[in-house]
Amino acid sequence: MTIERSLVLVKPDGFQRGLTGEVLRRVEAKGYALRALAILTPTRGMLEQHYAEHQGKPFYEALVEFMSSGPVTAAVIEGEDCVKGFRALAGATNPTDAAPGTIRGDLGRDWGTAVQQNIVHGSDSLESAAREIGIWFPQL
Ligand code: RTP
Ligand code: MG
Repeated sequence: MTIERSLVLVKPDGFQRGLTGEVLRRVEAKGYALRALAILTPTRGMLEQHYAEHQGKPFYEALVEFMSSGPVTAAVIEGEDCVKGFRALAGATNPTDAAPGTIRGDLGRDWGTAVQQNIVHGSDSLESAAREIGIWFPQL
């Protein structure tokens, strides 16, 4: 198993609720290392790249609007199999379905918004991770 990197975002809902520390605590408690950390409000251009796979879907505009609504915390995490491992920590996309013990299951819920506000993002593959790290941390 090779050491992997993944792009983690604490989305605007998680940031606004003061959950950045709790998310990073869970990442570190799992044993993954933090390799880069930043607080920023993403531009529409960054989000169009980040969510390119979702362009044209019914929830796309609401997703970009939500993700650009305020600051996010972006992190590069590192460890063996951490792409899959962080997705397991995050839980299912819909926080109502996410299992207790996961970030979305423990800390998230449905707020009746146009797009699910689910606290965190995690890269879904090694290829996505490399692409996304290039968007959020071009200096790496
Ligand atoms: P993410 O990319 O943000 O880590 O989330 P994910 O992989 O679990 O889910 P994905 O399918 O990539 O969707 C990206 C984000 O779009 C919103 N979404 N809403 N049917 C819907 O209402 C719907 N589907 C997706 C969520 O905010 C999801 O995290
Ligand atoms: Mg995704």
